[in-house]
Amino acid sequence: MTKKIIKILSILVIIGIVLLILIQFIPYGKNHTNPPIISSPNWDSPQTQQLAKRACFDCHSNETVWPWYSKIAPVSWLLYHDVAKGRSRLNFSDWSSGWPIESGELAVVINEGEMPPAQYLLMHPSARLNAAEKDQLITGLLNTLNR
Ligand code: HEC
Repeated sequence: MTKKIIKILSILVIIGIVLLILIQFIPYGKNHTNPPIISSPNWDSPQTQQLAKRACFDCHSNETVWPWYSKIAPVSWLLYHDVAKGRSRLNFSDWSSGWPIESGELAVVINEGEMPPAQYLLMHPSARLNAAEKDQLITGLLNTLNR
């Protein structure tokens, strides 16, 4: 009986590994060529720019730094989808495409930890902002928007 279970488990593991190898050949999410920078915000200060770069640019700019695991499916699919969606909502490298929310909501999005997303912070601890930095980024972005 145990032998049979071990045999079934081994077959499942092998099928899993084969599938993992096969999905690497699916082209979706493999193109990591960043589009050119079209237009940048008229930053109110270098500090605001630095904070946005640190916490937001990987998904909201054309300067995404793609980590090594972004080449491995199925993680590659999730990251690619996040960046494509992030850029389509807000792109610091294509500023003419506009600002996605009412300025009053920005503080909520940042302070409630909606942005940057929690799963991103897990892999990018340096993007974590403390309370003072969050305040600086919110005020700085609002000043930048109103310039
Ligand atoms: C890991 C990728 C990622 C990072 C990093 C990130 N965002 Fe986003 N952001 C997204 C995605 C994806 C969406 C689209 C969410 C949706 O439509 O469901 C989004 C949407 C938004 C929106 C639109 C409002 C909304 O709720 O739809 C704002 C504003 C925003 N992000 C601001 C920021 C700011 C400011 C930072 C940095 C502090 C940041 N984001 C960091 C991925 C990211």
